[in-house]
Amino acid sequence: MEHYVSRPDTIVIAGVRTPGSEQADTLVRLPAGKGSKLILAKIDATSNNDVPQAMSELDQRHNIQHLDIVIANAGIFTPTAHQKMGNMNLSDLQSHIDVNAYSVVRLFQGVWPLLSKSLKPVFLLNSAGAGTLGGMKSFAHFPLNSYAASKVLANFVVLRLHFEYPDLIAFAVHPGSVVTENRTQAAKMLGVEVEGLSVNDCVSGMMRIVRSFFPVDG
Ligand SMILES: NC(=O)c1ccc[n+]([C@@H]2O[C@H](COP(=O)([O-])OP(=O)(O)OC[C@H]3O[C@@H](n4cnc5c(N)ncnc54)[C@H](OP(=O)(O)O)[C@@H]3O)[C@@H](O)[C@H]2O)c1
Repeated sequence: MEHYVSRPDTIVIAGVRTPGSEQADTLVRLPAGKGSKLILAKIDATSNNDVPQAMSELDQRHNIQHLDIVIANAGIFTPTAHQKMGNMNLSDLQSHIDVNAYSVVRLFQGVWPLLSKSLKPVFLLNSAGAGTLGGMKSFAHFPLNSYAASKVLANFVVLRLHFEYPDLIAFAVHPGSVVTENRTQAAKMLGVEVEGLSVNDCVSGMMRIVRSFFPVDG
């Protein structure tokens, strides 16, 4: 958010669960570049109605006729949920899939009417290294089953988008191991060391990838 809203002439839509919250207010107060602004949209990733409702408000209240880049970032990782397959609780699997994977379908279906009006539409999923079938061996020692399975499904969705919508730049990235509040808490509960990229370094790397699709205006 901070990165994009600090650019000139950029409108950033931040999907948040509770627009009136203090946390949401800190987004609105982020320093904006010349001609830029941040608009809050109420989006709970588990809602079937929030994204279509938010899109209709963007159009009707803010006169926004198209979107250029959509980032599916919302995600949960509940450390206590992570058990070996023999002990997996299906309700944990379901909740991870709901937030981490079904939400990607909900988001895409809701934003596509505005995103498809962009000259170069981008749909980016903040995925996870654990969500790879081919690379499962490197995560074999961690039973991150509910989280990883949900990210595998989310990756599938994005790969299908790539094939089904030839004009859409749809891709999933593993952000790296990033030291966020959630990650620090999860690492502590799993008894592993908290190390990794800073949020700034992670965002810079991800933005470099997005910029590579826009070589002229960056
Ligand atoms: N950190 C890492 O090392 C790492 C590694 C691989 C992948 N990822 C992925 O990167 C993304 C961001 O993770 P993070 O580490 O930054 O974790 P985080 O700080 O916990 O961020 C997760 C975000 O998802 C939002 N969210 C959760 N449930 C939601 C719901 N039902 N509706 C709407 N928003 C919801 C949270 O909103 P609230 O602020 O309202 O809680 C929060 O903004 C996730 O998809 C995660 O799987 C992170």
